[in-house]
Amino acid sequence: MDKRDFYSLLKAVPKAEIHLHQEAVPERKIINKLYKKCSGREMTEVELNNLFSYSDLEGFLQSFMSVQRMFTEEKDLRFIIDALDSYVHANNIVYAETFFAPTSLLKKGFDFTYSINILTAGFKKIKEKRGCTIKTIVDVSRSFGVENAQHNLDLVLHEKNPEIIGIGLGGSETFGPARDFASVFDNAKKAGLHTVVHAGETEDSWSMKDAINLLHAERIGHGTSAAYDEDFIKELAQRQLPLEVCPTSNIFTKKYVKELKDHPVKQLFDKGVFITINTDDPSFFKVSLIDEYWNIYKLMGFSLENIRTIIKNGFRASFISQEEKDAYCAKVDEAWNAWFESHPKA
Ligand code: HPA
Ligand code: ZN
Repeated sequence: MDKRDFYSLLKAVPKAEIHLHQEAVPERKIINKLYKKCSGREMTEVELNNLFSYSDLEGFLQSFMSVQRMFTEEKDLRFIIDALDSYVHANNIVYAETFFAPTSLLKKGFDFTYSINILTAGFKKIKEKRGCTIKTIVDVSRSFGVENAQHNLDLVLHEKNPEIIGIGLGGSETFGPARDFASVFDNAKKAGLHTVVHAGETEDSWSMKDAINLLHAERIGHGTSAAYDEDFIKELAQRQLPLEVCPTSNIFTKKYVKELKDHPVKQLFDKGVFITINTDDPSFFKVSLIDEYWNIYKLMGFSLENIRTIIKNGFRASFISQEEKDAYCAKVDEAWNAWFESHPKA
């Protein structure tokens, strides 16, 4: 199928995205507006290019935090809402589980309740306008120590906001090993929150094993390094524990794969691992969800039927009820079949 038809098909089919960082959705020109608001001038072309250049995860995380620093008051969070509104519309995303990382905002005095209320009120408006449900997973962060992570969890527990469905662990996998955060994730699990962990992004499969065995991770963010551990691949396939694969992100952070065509996600899929496809940080990696599906179709050998399965996997791996999963998957099939009926030559 050519690119034009592929994008038309993918636009027609409702999708879920379950690994998406809220702060990384506003486009570069919006980030420049935010910069102007906080510093009184726009970034030059060179400054913008520098901000969005990184050669590894640590460099990317510095850029991510630079963008977070541009949010100077809670009301700036509206930039995230507007960006998500356009993003879900452009990609026909009808359900999203999105990360919000409060640490650096809280450190400069943001109020957690006020921030979360602004975001969730904004997401409610998106739901009314577009029919897209956006849930929040609070990234308690592995970059600022265990006490900070527990503090973030305490705020979530105090909030009791049903739009916050779980906690995640992002940040530096190398400098903040998952096992250090076992007590925090234990507490989250006991309180009935869902738990997801970035792992296998810059560390070998031991890191994913710790995330699953010690942190009760229900899904793994990235999981790239699983591809180099055959026994673990078998275990993942047997347990059907979903991976939130973000191919372009992995190319930017350059740890295990340097080019999209060499990404091991197809091997994992063929060996029965539960694969979902996501963008991670669309404005940082200049990629949309539909682009990412095109990448795996065009460059990694996924068939159209594989693509349909992976789209449904996005819903199946999410934290909604089985009835909702079935209803969304039925809508995927309906839209898929309708598109082919109206494009008989495709
Ligand atoms: N890894 C870790 N932390 C992050 C990422 C990521 O890919 N994106 C945003 N925060
Ligand atoms: Zn991520």
